[in-house]
Amino acid sequence: MNKIMAYQIPFRSKELKQQVEEFLNYYGKEKVNEHSYQVADEARKLAEKFNLSAEKAYVAGLLHDISVVIPNEERIALQRSLNKEVLKEEEILPMILHQKQSVFVAEELFGIQDAEILSAIECHTTLRKNASDLDKVVFIADKVKWDRDDSAPYLEELNQALTQSLDEGCRVYIRWALLDIIVLHPWLKDAMDDLALS
Ligand SMILES: [Fe+2]
Ligand SMILES: [Fe+2]
Repeated sequence: MNKIMAYQIPFRSKELKQQVEEFLNYYGKEKVNEHSYQVADEARKLAEKFNLSAEKAYVAGLLHDISVVIPNEERIALQRSLNKEVLKEEEILPMILHQKQSVFVAEELFGIQDAEILSAIECHTTLRKNASDLDKVVFIADKVKWDRDDSAPYLEELNQALTQSLDEGCRVYIRWALLDIIVLHPWLKDAMDDLALS
């Protein structure tokens, strides 16, 4: 049995939204549950605005942070036990691995197989090279509904940018994030190259 399966719980509901709530509440992550609902709703709205699949955006939003149940100090060992690489930047800041590990949880415990949904979950923190529009929607939805108590300081500028394009929205957030970034993940570096930000 791999270490992801150890997190499995029996679901009472057949509905994904309820299952996410059951799962996160079981592990005492009620705040993340609330954040996930908000990101899912925001991702659905953005997907409609940019003519993408609202359903895929919603599911990716619900599950993007689902690996929060894995303690940060266990993430590197877990990654290695699954024979997945650990980048130098992820070794410095293991929390960044939560985007990749949410994919494993979504696949194995929630039965998600759609490659576009899994991709959007996988790069919701850093974006990536050749990011899809759905990747960008979930990335931005997570920043609009960020997981801190006050509203995001860049929100007005971000909303303004989104009246132009998804890419412009990504640029606004990334410029802000660079002000106090701890490590520059290579996927973010690639995304910045694509967005002509570096
Ligand atoms: Fe996240
Ligand atoms: Fe998030």
